Amino acid sequence: MKELKDRILKEGQALSKEVLSVDSFLNHQVDPVLVQKMGKEFARYFKDKHVTKVITVESSGIAPAIFTALELNVPVIFARKHKSLTLTTDLYTSDVYSYTKETFNTISVSSHYLNEWDRVLIIDDFLANGQAVKGMLNICSQAKAQPVGAGIVIEKSWQKGRSMLEEQGVDVYSLARIQELDEGKIEFLD
Ligand code: G4P
Ligand code: NA
Ligand code: NA
Repeated sequence: MKELKDRILKEGQALSKEVLSVDSFLNHQVDPVLVQKMGKEFARYFKDKHVTKVITVESSGIAPAIFTALELNVPVIFARKHKSLTLTTDLYTSDVYSYTKETFNTISVSSHYLNEWDRVLIIDDFLANGQAVKGMLNICSQAKAQPVGAGIVIEKSWQKGRSMLEEQGVDVYSLARIQELDEGKIEFLD
């Protein structure tokens, strides 16, 4: 998605060889006009997959997931990373390992909102090692729901996420694929 790549070049900051900051339009301040275009692009790519639900993990996946779901006219579920006051029983949960933080996060989705009839589109802001997507796939499998693919805003292509997911047969569509990062340097694949 050219407009996204242009914006990454304009405002993204490579904090190291591993981490890209896009706080000005995605991870802290959100540009709804740009994120709506992301949603339209995910909806276009996955339009023939008969999606019934969009799923993401809080918090930064929510904005692109909402706009995708709006375009597809389906609900969006965001998996919780923190214990909720109201969401305490009938949960599907999965432990998501973070390589950067070296900790496990438990993500949860109520069993009321996901079932065996659902065709689920996974959306997330970043794809690194693919652990969050793997957790969402695990939750789909507990619900016997059918995952139809994963839409990713920014893929860090040198990390293992895409290949791990493709080996599992997941259709991964990333709007921007980054080949290399370094301080002051951002290079895209293709
Ligand atoms: P890892 O596999 O490389 O260890 O990373 P992991 O998926 O555990 O990601 C940890 C958090 O960092 C996730 O957000 C993820 O979206 C984010 N993240 C990973 N790489 C980058 C990057 O290069 N830039 C930015 N901006 N974020 C990155 P989270 O903790 O779940 O937070 P949030 O969704 O509430 O923002
Ligand atoms: Na994030
Ligand atoms: Na995320």
